[in-house]
Amino acid sequence: MATHQTILGCYLMTTFDFDAIIDRRGTHSDKWDKYKDQDILPMWVADMDFLSPPPVIEALTKRVAHGVFGYTNTPDELVEVVLDHIKNDFGWRIQPEWIVWLPGLVCGLNVLCKTTPNLSDEIMTFTPIYPPFLSAPALSGRQLIKLPLQLKGDQWVMDFEALEAAITQKTRMLLLCNPHNPTGRSWSKVELLELARIAKKYDLIIGSDDIHAGLILDKDKTHVPIASLSPEIAARTISLFAPSKTYNIAGLGCSFAVISDPLLRRRFISAKGRIVPHVNLLAFTAALAAYKEGEPWRLELINYLRGNRDLLQDEIASMKGLTIAHVEATYLIWIDARGLWVPDPVQFFEKAGVGLSDGTDFDAQGFVRLNFGCSRAMLKEALLRMKVAVKTLNP
Ligand SMILES: Cc1ncc(COP(=O)(O)O)c(C=O)c1O
Repeated sequence: MATHQTILGCYLMTTFDFDAIIDRRGTHSDKWDKYKDQDILPMWVADMDFLSPPPVIEALTKRVAHGVFGYTNTPDELVEVVLDHIKNDFGWRIQPEWIVWLPGLVCGLNVLCKTTPNLSDEIMTFTPIYPPFLSAPALSGRQLIKLPLQLKGDQWVMDFEALEAAITQKTRMLLLCNPHNPTGRSWSKVELLELARIAKKYDLIIGSDDIHAGLILDKDKTHVPIASLSPEIAARTISLFAPSKTYNIAGLGCSFAVISDPLLRRRFISAKGRIVPHVNLLAFTAALAAYKEGEPWRLELINYLRGNRDLLQDEIASMKGLTIAHVEATYLIWIDARGLWVPDPVQFFEKAGVGLSDGTDFDAQGFVRLNFGCSRAMLKEALLRMKVAVKTLNP
């Protein structure tokens, strides 16, 4: 049970029913269309099957009813709520002029790769990683240097020695995903400070994708944007945020970069040029309602996702041939399926009726990623199907 404020300003007692099954078939959903007319549960691309927060739906309905959909400026109130959100949730005071609005975060990743001074510059990132990190440097004519994350106990960690050893005269940027897709790590302050120390030592720009910042599941953790560590670190960082993952409005496309250094900001804006379109008015409307009034919904969402995560971790740990690490954040779990000894784990699980993301796309063959942003009932069914399939390999 939680309260939320309606656009009319009154508080309602509401429970958000994350168990409700919303039929997304026939809605051109990317996630659900992939296995159209097949008995395969789609648990791949990163959007959730839940209704968005009621205030978001209400605000969009009101805006659509207005009926005129022309070019739109950023609502002043959205800037205010974003400043408040970043200050209250992450303890970081940012200025309105540091914000550059973008119609999507992948677009932001591509733009930020263009901010390094030279075409032949090297950009580093840790793998496995969300696929656009792998393609963005090359699309900007830059070189990608990949550094594998290491599994220590049940936690994926960065190898800082390997990072320093791989830095050359041409290295200009470090791309960070925090929280990390696909491993679900929420990087600690200690880890981020070490990364920042290295960035300073070698004069690297940090590009930080914080799209999953609102989805920290572990009760003893909070999200730390690397730029929030000090003004000096902020001055070499381009942080990318969005309400899209947290509030399930990814299809609307609204995100923003936070860049405190005026020169770096100018380079980013110039790289954006006139190619990147404006954020559309419905995306702005949804983002404003989400940040302003979505918090009670978000808190219940986190509880629900935590329950899904716990169930998943227990169940997968009992399946022979599958290995996982603890998921601290996001609604994604990264599964090492190499122990199954099947030629193609994605195909194997599709045959069992579960559609997962292929680790190969994240630079890790033999792994799969499962999206648990779905009803508990669907998750249980998927786990049952996986369990039965895995058992056939080890009767
Ligand atoms: C780390 C990360 N960055 C960016 C995106 C996509 O952002 P957008 O849809 O705004 O381009 C995703 C989506 O899964 C993601 O996980």
